[in-house]
Amino acid sequence: MKLEDIKTVGMAGAGSMGAGIAQIAAMAGLQVKVVDMSEEVWGRAKKTIVKSLERVVKKGTITEKEMEETIARISFSTDVASLKDVPFIFEAVFEDINVKKELFAKLDAVCGSDTIYATNTSSISITEMAALVKNPANFIGMHFFNPVPVMKLVEVIPALQTAPATKDLALDMAKKIGKTAITCKDTPGFVVNRLFVPYIIDAVRLLEEGVASAEDIDTAMKLGCNMPMGPLEFQDFAGVDIGYHVINIFHEYMKQERFAAPGLLRNMIKAGYVGRKAGRGFYDYSEEK
Ligand SMILES: NC(=O)c1ccc[n+]([C@@H]2O[C@H](COP(=O)([O-])OP(=O)(O)OC[C@H]3O[C@@H](n4cnc5c(N)ncnc54)[C@H](O)[C@@H]3O)[C@@H](O)[C@H]2O)c1
Repeated sequence: MKLEDIKTVGMAGAGSMGAGIAQIAAMAGLQVKVVDMSEEVWGRAKKTIVKSLERVVKKGTITEKEMEETIARISFSTDVASLKDVPFIFEAVFEDINVKKELFAKLDAVCGSDTIYATNTSSISITEMAALVKNPANFIGMHFFNPVPVMKLVEVIPALQTAPATKDLALDMAKKIGKTAITCKDTPGFVVNRLFVPYIIDAVRLLEEGVASAEDIDTAMKLGCNMPMGPLEFQDFAGVDIGYHVINIFHEYMKQERFAAPGLLRNMIKAGYVGRKAGRGFYDYSEEK
């Protein structure tokens, strides 16, 4: 299959990532068929897409008419069967191997073996997921970053079973939808998180060791390295529990002490200090609530 043959793409999952991928694919002129669990989810996703496109119109990158045309290219269904005959399907459902397994079984039941599947998983092995589908040669990882319309990178990760033609097509697709791609092997964290996770771990260790306060660690990285957010602020924003889960996946795979989760994270989770969503993490947000 060639990129020119693809006029329609599928998007399984319309959460934060799915909505973003649907938007950029539609902006690139592709018809996008979105599937998620309910109309309510779709209502939220559509609102996010419209808001994001309105910002693009304000910037003058597209006209209001182009915005309407972009929105009209996106359709929604709760039925996986609506993705039958769609040649290229992105997947961004919950980060749970059982949820993904069930979804791919449903997709495989309606899609032909030439369908390309591109998963956006952050932490599950692409090779393990490829083994779930009837044609693993057409399975690949395309790891986007949040918020998708803003972040320019996509990591393209072939599974051990991925055909070279699938990789080439994924790279072409990334370019078509406005992203810069890098490729890497199927290993935990790919490139970005492989570098970012140890950085987060070390920030927590500095705090544990009493080298500096949370505020000073965050200020140091924002003002000294131009990071938009400090590492501990970031943990609070993304969820301390989610970070802990990702660190443990790294540690399990790498078996290296430098990837071991600091004890402070474990204790924070036990105490319920899982970040902004709980009103308390490295910082106290109770006033905000
Ligand atoms: N959020 C991030 O920063 C980020 C960044 C890169 C990659 N990812 C990856 O993207 C994927 C999605 O993450 P997210 O943050 O968008 O999650 P999310 O929770 O915002 O969205 C997941 C969506 O999947 C839907 N869903 C669940 N089961 C489904 C099914 N069987 N069929 C159709 N839809 C189903 C849910 O209703 C929900 O709308 C995960 O694999 C995650 O690891 C997330």
